[in-house]
Amino acid sequence: MEKTSKKSFYITTPIYYVNDVPHIGHAYTTIIADALARFQKLAGKDVFFLTGTDEHGQKIEKAAAEKGLTPKALADSVVGRAQDLWKALNISHDFFIRTTMDFHEKGVQKLFQALVEKGDIYKGEYKGWYCVSDENFLADDVPVDSDGAKVCPDCGKKALVVSEETYFFRLSAYQDRLLALYAEHPEFVRPQSRLNEVASFVRGGLKDLSITRTTVKWGVPVPGDPVHTIYVWFDALFNYVTGIGYDWNPALFEKFWPADIHLVGKDILRFHAVYWPAFLMAADFPLPRTVYGHGWWLKDDTKMSKSKGNVLDPQAILKVFGPDPLRYFLLREIPIGQDGNFSHEGFLHRINSDLANDLGNLIQRTLTMIRNYFEGMIEGPEDETAEDLKVRTDFENLKARVFDLYDTCALNKALEEIWAYIGAVNKYLAASEPWIMAKDPARRPRLARVLLQAAAAIRGVSYLLFPVMPGSSEKIWGFLGEEKTPAALPFARLAFDGFRTGRKVEMPQALFPRVALKEFLGEEAAPPPAPPAARREPTKEGKQTMDIITYDEFKRMDLRVAHILKAERVPGATKLLKLEVDIGAEKRQMVAGIAETYAPEDLVGKKLIVIVNLKPAVIRGVESQAMLLAAVTGDNLALIPFFDRDVPAGAVVK
Ligand code: MSP
Repeated sequence: MEKTSKKSFYITTPIYYVNDVPHIGHAYTTIIADALARFQKLAGKDVFFLTGTDEHGQKIEKAAAEKGLTPKALADSVVGRAQDLWKALNISHDFFIRTTMDFHEKGVQKLFQALVEKGDIYKGEYKGWYCVSDENFLADDVPVDSDGAKVCPDCGKKALVVSEETYFFRLSAYQDRLLALYAEHPEFVRPQSRLNEVASFVRGGLKDLSITRTTVKWGVPVPGDPVHTIYVWFDALFNYVTGIGYDWNPALFEKFWPADIHLVGKDILRFHAVYWPAFLMAADFPLPRTVYGHGWWLKDDTKMSKSKGNVLDPQAILKVFGPDPLRYFLLREIPIGQDGNFSHEGFLHRINSDLANDLGNLIQRTLTMIRNYFEGMIEGPEDETAEDLKVRTDFENLKARVFDLYDTCALNKALEEIWAYIGAVNKYLAASEPWIMAKDPARRPRLARVLLQAAAAIRGVSYLLFPVMPGSSEKIWGFLGEEKTPAALPFARLAFDGFRTGRKVEMPQALFPRVALKEFLGEEAAPPPAPPAARREPTKEGKQTMDIITYDEFKRMDLRVAHILKAERVPGATKLLKLEVDIGAEKRQMVAGIAETYAPEDLVGKKLIVIVNLKPAVIRGVESQAMLLAAVTGDNLALIPFFDRDVPAGAVVK
């Protein structure tokens, strides 16, 4: 994506329907926008971040009637809860627009009138099918089903026949200009694959769009013809201009329009990439730079949506974890254009491994050592060795790459790179063994250097994380004795040397709670891995009896080759080892009852077979996310298998 070069930066989320409180899918859009807005501020831009609610239309009218409320009363009750959610997620929007606000309604009427005068809006008769859930007119080629009705191809709900007098927007007149826009400014639609989709839709031919309704009362009245209300999408899209001052604050409007990024879900891309630029062309407004279509969060492989009853309430997660783990997970797990499957197991695993283990431990260890060995203030470091220098230069390189990645909306890649660096610093610390140096007073200058590098790296990394995890980033800076918040330091002035000797660090508090799956899901802990089901005592005749399973049952087991990366004893348990294994696509932690037969150092680097889709179990307070296969006879145990050639971690065993 093209880099931003102008001084102001204007980013929007879609405005959310008020038929219900936002769920994790909606939170996703808003979190992406928040991270990009916070980054652009660090990059020195004057940022305006707009979000809000879409409160008119048939969908809201219907939802309110079902609840026995007026549409405005429903909107008022939902808006408060939505705003509470954004607060709990630490969203830093500059303005929250509601389409029922007076200045917005007036602005929409003024624009409507201007387009009537220009001849781009004209009166006619509409007959066709309408989907209330998506507030969308169906294309003519959607087939009629067996009972003579049409089903909305997007949401699968039955559409209604609408036949009424209406005002049309002359969309057909803009087909060529739209195609020219996509050809000349391919960055107008992101990602690229979506541009092709949009362009081919427009190439297929555009029909004029019905933009008023006489049967829907809950909407902005058409100026001079109030039996008509304005189509909710015409009304809603113009929030992006009324929200920054169109018709009420010209200076603000001048400063920020056109938008840099309209962030939208892929389901509403067409409204933003076809209708919206056409409306803007008709109104003679400059066009936004980019409409970015993100993917969906799915639950059990289906889009999370209220009507499907599979939505996840972010508040439940926020209560346990606070905002940053959820923000991190949603942004880290998938690139912005792709879909992702949300699972509590996946969430917990990522949080425990990346936040509690990798980042949390790095901070905890480093700062505790600075407190213990230097009473909180590092002094007298020796000069940098080649390894120390590498921690510094790697950071400078990381900083430049992360800037570009954030600037091009590649948030997950930026986080991936930051974590690779965190891993390298953890390794540097482990290889330097500061806890051993601390025993030898002659090595104190070396110890000071190692802890100084680690603290400087932590400071730098937490700055880079500010757009995604602002609260944690501020806390870490506090632990490091920084007086300012990361928000006050421009990106360009971030330097590895920002952490200096003579600064007193505080004892860190735990940043990321380590939560066991059982606690999180509120259910009983899964029992420790059971012995293999088919193991039975021999009968009197010496034959083995077995429970027979079908091939399908066997196929449900996901067996993989696992490469052991780390092994250590579980404190206080003579039989248990904690292993970290690489199973190809990810790393897992597992607990195995093999400590009486295998020493941890015998295992690192070996490969074995593990079952990876067994429900995780918490054993002695440690979550086990896979189970290994071993041959067991009485108290004897042998790990299987021994591969007769090299196999990669993650290889399927069948
Ligand atoms: N009101 C319209 C937008 C008007 S903008 C001028 C609307 N509202 S919505 O509440 O239904 O959806 C708002 C946004 O949430 C959309 O971008 C949609 O893609 C996003 N999401 C809703 N469910 C989602 C997921 N399950 N996953 C990710 N985003 C999803 O459409």
